[in-house]
Order: sequence, then C-alpha cells, then structure tokens
Amino acid sequence: MSAERGSSFFIHTFGCQMNQADTGIIAALLQAEGYLQAEREAEAGIVLLNTCAVRENAVERVEHFLQHLQGRKKREKGLIVGVAGCIPQYRREEMFSLYPAIDFLAGPDTYRTIPSLVEQVRRGGKLASLEFNSGETYEGIEPARDGATSAFVPVMRGCNNRCAYCVVPFTRGRERSQPFSSVMLEVQKLVTSGYREITLLGQNVNSYCDVENGYDFSALLDAVSREAPLARIRFTTSHPKDISESLVRTIASRPNICNALHLPVQSGSSRMLGRMNRGHTIEEYLEKIALIRSVIPDVALSTDIIAGFCGEREDDHQASLDLLSKVRFDSAYMFYYSTRPGTFAAETFEDDVPEPVKKRRLQEIIDLQNSISNELFQEAIGTVVEVLAETESRRSSEQLMGRTAGNRAVVFDRAHYQPGDLLRVLITGATSATLTGRPVPAVLP
Ligand code: SAH
Ligand code: SF4
Ligand code: F3S
Repeated sequence: MSAERGSSFFIHTFGCQMNQADTGIIAALLQAEGYLQAEREAEAGIVLLNTCAVRENAVERVEHFLQHLQGRKKREKGLIVGVAGCIPQYRREEMFSLYPAIDFLAGPDTYRTIPSLVEQVRRGGKLASLEFNSGETYEGIEPARDGATSAFVPVMRGCNNRCAYCVVPFTRGRERSQPFSSVMLEVQKLVTSGYREITLLGQNVNSYCDVENGYDFSALLDAVSREAPLARIRFTTSHPKDISESLVRTIASRPNICNALHLPVQSGSSRMLGRMNRGHTIEEYLEKIALIRSVIPDVALSTDIIAGFCGEREDDHQASLDLLSKVRFDSAYMFYYSTRPGTFAAETFEDDVPEPVKKRRLQEIIDLQNSISNELFQEAIGTVVEVLAETESRRSSEQLMGRTAGNRAVVFDRAHYQPGDLLRVLITGATSATLTGRPVPAVLP
C-alpha cells in the first residue's frame, strides 16, 4: 500500500442529518492531523462507517458493508476499518466478535479520539472508545463541508425523551446545547463563505437551551435569521410537545426562515401515542397544527409515522390513515416498527403485529400519503414559487434542481442561473416526486 493511501480516509455515512453533520466533524478532526479525504473508498487506507441503529434494516446495511470490507482486508494488508456513531454506542464491544473486519469503535461523544485510535490501531490491536460525555458539543470544530450552498449546524445533541420504541436516547445520551455565541460564530463564517441555506440540527431541536445566556430555541432561531439575512434558515427535528407559540410566531415573522415544519406524529391514535410515551394526545397534536396553520397559512408540514407498533389494532391503524387525510402533510417518512433490544417497548410489550400485517399497513399509509402529495403537487401547477438552486439536474446540464421553501424538489430550465441562486420559478408540471418549471423575472410586470 502506498504511503498516500495509508494516510487517506473515506467515510460512509448512514442515518439522519445529524450523522451527516457528524461525518463533517470526523473528517475535520482527521484532516487536522494531516489525513487526506479520499474521493473513493477504494483509494483510502482508512475506512470509516458512521452508522445508524434506529431500525434493524439500517443495521443490516452496515453489516453488508462490513462483509465487503472484510474481503478488502484479506487482500490489502494494513487497511484500517473503524465504525462510528450509533451502532457501536448501542452494541458496544460485542461488535468486535460479530464483525472481525473492525479495528476500532467510536461513539457519538468520542469522535475527538478517532485520530489517536487510528494511530494506536496501526501499532496493533483493536480499540473501543465509547464513553458518554454530556458536555461534548464539538464546539470550536469547523466541519468539513460537501457543497457550497447548504450547511448543517448542529445546535443541540442527545435526547431526554423516552419514546418507548426508540434507541436514540441510548446511542446519543443526554441533551446538551451548543453555547449561543458558538452557534453565532459558525453562522457568521457560513455567511462569509456565501452559504445560502443553513439548517439548524438537533434530535429535539426545539429543546435548545443556553441557560447561562437565556436563549431558548425561538430566540436562537430569530438571532440566526438576522445574522444570515440572505440565507434560508431551516431546522429539524421538532418534537410536537415542545412547539411553542413564540416559535411559531418567530417563523412567521422572519422572512428568511422557511415556512416549513417537520413534526413527527408517529401514530394517529392517542392510545398508541400513550403506549409510545410521546407525551401528547392526537387532539393536542391537531391543536398545534391548527395554531401553526393559523399563524403561518402557507406552511409546509411533514411528519414521521410508524406502522405496526406493539398492540396496534386495525382501528389504531385507521386513525393513522384518518390523520393523514385530515392534515394533508406535504410529505412523510413512513416506517414499520422495528423492535430495538433494550428499549422500553422491547422490554415491556410484545412485538405482536405480524410482519405481513405491519407491511400491509405501511403500504396503505404510503399509498395514501403518495396520493395526497401528488394532489398537492398538482395544485402547485400554475403558481410561482421561490426556489434555491442547488445542483445541476441529473438528467441534463441545461436544467438545475432546487427546492422551494416547503422543501419540494423543482427541476427547471437553467437559463443564466447557477447553483446558489435564489429565483422565482413558474411551475408548469409535476411528477410524483418533483415539480418542473421555468424561471420568471424577479418582479412580475
Ligand atoms: N428525534 C427525532 C427523530 C428520531 S428517529 C424525533 O423525535 O422525531 C427518526 C424516526 O425514526 C422517528 O421519528 C420514528 O418515526 C422512526 N423510528 C424510531 N424508532 C423506530 C423503530 N424502532 N421502528 C421504526 N421506526 C422508528
Ligand atoms: Fe427518539 Fe423520541 Fe427522542 Fe425522537 S424524541 S429521538 S423519537 S426518543
Ligand atoms: Fe440513526 Fe443515530 Fe440518527 S440511530 S437516526 S444515526 S441519531
């Protein structure tokens, strides 16, 4: 293996946006020690998997990669394989016996140890660094970023909720917030570098709290939107029980905060929400939706929903379908329940909805949501929307792909526009996942 390959790394990222942001942090930490980021895995002598444990199929994808890396290790002496993120934090040292390809493990609070883990592994042995550190916010590390248009800024990490099905509190530990001044410093740098979209991230972003300086999430959001007046501001994920009126009013009052809210509901049945320990009923959820829509009439709402949680009956499932019809979300992430050992649900309830029933219910949910999303897309034809151009379209360099404030993908004729431009587009067509259109002048005659 060449010296260059031995000192270059490649990271495969799985899971949520927080994990994508964390990959930027890990890359920055390795670069600071002189390692180079390879363009392709095959060119790297250090391969990292930044992993997700939220559902069994996420774990299976990582297992698949580990088998492939085991094959590479047999051929390439000196290849180093590290697994970071939520799976090792959850499965701990048993990972070494399950997957012989692994040289080191690092959890979400120990990324700073990764460069020294690599060095120690080179000298021989297998190592795990899996301590929780509820003070770790990775303050002061400027993440390596992919594009030049959109940037993620993690503002809080961890989760203090205990949703019965969820592994995240076990993998990410207690909530902690990045100090206000440190978030603002990062935002200033992004503004100087010309970023046009900033997404504030947290497992429960609206629980953000800088106690010492007296900033809650709506105060932070307001300040960020003023610091970056030319950038679109987004945030995710919000917990319904923590949506405050002041947050809704902040979104409405600041023009550059996108009128979009991702508000996971998980089920349309209060009985199931109780079993899931979500901390609110479906009536309370609908009251929040009504408040949001009364203050931000053009808001785009999206959600997460789980089919077939323990004890779910047909009437509970029907309640989820009814909720989708009632709210008419723009889009939804839809899953069937995957039992996670160690969670409250796995310890307490029986995973009693048979897999074919879970899959059938999920399919009904997907079919209904797709038809709603389709109808909403069709209604958009003929309207003029503001689009932030992101990349060239996959099909043609004559077209660009961008997103509306409500996060809908739009493919449009390029004309003289470049990625990073904010422009107005007349919507002329719609497919199931994309709107199509052409630019129109900034001010209509
Ligand atoms: N903190 C966020 C996201 C958590 S994980 C929140 O509270 O919404 C993202 C989504 O994965 C969840 O909203 C939930 O819909 C889904 N999910 C979590 N655990 C799951 C499980 N065991 N089986 C199926 N889906 C799950
Ligand atoms: Fe998981 Fe619930 Fe925390 Fe979200 S709020 S990360 S679903 S425990
Ligand atoms: Fe997955 Fe961890 Fe995110 S379990 S969803 S990568 S917080």
